[in-house]
Amino acid sequence: MAMQITTGTSELRDITKMERIGAHSHVHGLGLDDRLEPRANSQGLVGQAKARKAAGMILKMVQEGKIAGRAMLFAGPPSTGKTAIALGMAQSLGPDVPFTMIAASEVFSLSMSKTEALTQAFRRSIGVRIKEETELIEGQVVEIQIDRSLTGATKTGKLTIKTTDMETVYDLGMKMIEALTKEKVLAGDVIAIDKTSGKVTKLGRSFAQSRDYDAMGADTKFVQCPEGEIQKRRTVVHTVSLHEIDVINSRTQGFLALFAGDTGEIKPELRNQINAKVAEWREEGKAEIVPGVLFIDEVHMLDIECFSFLNRALEGELAPLVIMASNRGMARIRGTKFRSPHGLPMDLLDRVLIVSTKAYSEEDIQQIIQIRCQEEDVQLTPDAANVLTSMAMSTTLRYALNLIACGRVVARKRKAEQVDVEDLRRAYTYFMDEKRSVQWLKEQQGSLVFEEAGEPTDELMDST
Ligand SMILES: Nc1ncnc2c1ncn2[C@@H]1O[C@H](COP(=O)(O)OP(=O)(O)O)[C@@H](O)[C@H]1O
Ligand SMILES: [Mg+2]
Repeated sequence: MAMQITTGTSELRDITKMERIGAHSHVHGLGLDDRLEPRANSQGLVGQAKARKAAGMILKMVQEGKIAGRAMLFAGPPSTGKTAIALGMAQSLGPDVPFTMIAASEVFSLSMSKTEALTQAFRRSIGVRIKEETELIEGQVVEIQIDRSLTGATKTGKLTIKTTDMETVYDLGMKMIEALTKEKVLAGDVIAIDKTSGKVTKLGRSFAQSRDYDAMGADTKFVQCPEGEIQKRRTVVHTVSLHEIDVINSRTQGFLALFAGDTGEIKPELRNQINAKVAEWREEGKAEIVPGVLFIDEVHMLDIECFSFLNRALEGELAPLVIMASNRGMARIRGTKFRSPHGLPMDLLDRVLIVSTKAYSEEDIQQIIQIRCQEEDVQLTPDAANVLTSMAMSTTLRYALNLIACGRVVARKRKAEQVDVEDLRRAYTYFMDEKRSVQWLKEQQGSLVFEEAGEPTDELMDST
């Protein structure tokens, strides 16, 4: 039995995401010029020129559709902008190019197998751009007539609709009557009805009706009465990800699962059917594949099974660009006894373009702190800015950036507008950075619960 595969509606894509101030919310792009040269300070990114340029080149290849099924790795010490640059790439992708971000450890915490979690992440990152012909009824409403049955339980009706050239009467069923009532359609409105979905869109009031001004609000939009045929064909283009098609068509889930984010496992047979259908659509010219980007942060947290899955999945026909980030130097590959650069097995490393990030200069740090202060709407006194910069140099950038918000809270307590050195000093004593924390742990030896360290621990990449 051939199954009907649906792709949902374009409305599904219009869910607006909530914006808030996060660690990377100041990043709006890669800050490159037309020749892909990094500007010193642009779109929220500062310095790290080589890595940004490399990211820009790879992005260019993605946009030209030349790169899919490839992988790149950002390797560098903590707090050197690996995640920030990857997110900058995401912002520079087109609006319908999918970007998915997962932290490697999520793969183990979801209520599904590791490979299913990775498969879903892969399929989220592949877009299918679908061209659909829809039939529209478009015209100015002349009259809507609704008849109730004696009991009032059922309604029937008639809709008279016209263009400048013709006029037609349509019979209305219950569903159509409901849709028209919901949109508050009146005689004199210009409307469009999608014939397949039955969706009613109010385009505006007809100019001919503009004289009954007392009947409408100030925001009423006036439009011309359409010309020509009432029934029209239109092509609409919308992009959905393979994962969305999977979920919409999986019987147990339904598309509401997309909102809940709880999609469970999807049967391989269904995926095969969908792949076959998409291939068919491509041949008929009804659909195009839009390879997107999958970003796996802290990739050294994956284990050997996940890595071998990645290796195989990257060779598949429908593979996105995979960007990974790791802050490990030589590290044990999870699930094995072997150590390897960045915690990645050699066969995977072999197919990866590696981009390294380096520790920032003092100037760069100064500017990043400035950008973050603007983003968080915090004012530092010039002295405090200098102190924070040197704190960032001796601890990490991330620690210093965290102190901005803490400093503000302390300053507020003494009702000051600006954060001063003293506020930072306080914040510094309240919150430890990593080095002091390690020192403290050593001093407390015995009074805290320690784990036995059997094997040599992984080494972090050093920032010096
Ligand atoms: N080049 C940069 N320009 C602006 N902000 C940056 C830059 N590099 C890092 N940051 C910011 O510094 C913080 C730490 O960087 P992050 O990207 O999380 O480091 P990593 O992922 O390498 O550990 C984040 O808040 C990030 O947005
Ligand atoms: Mg990171």
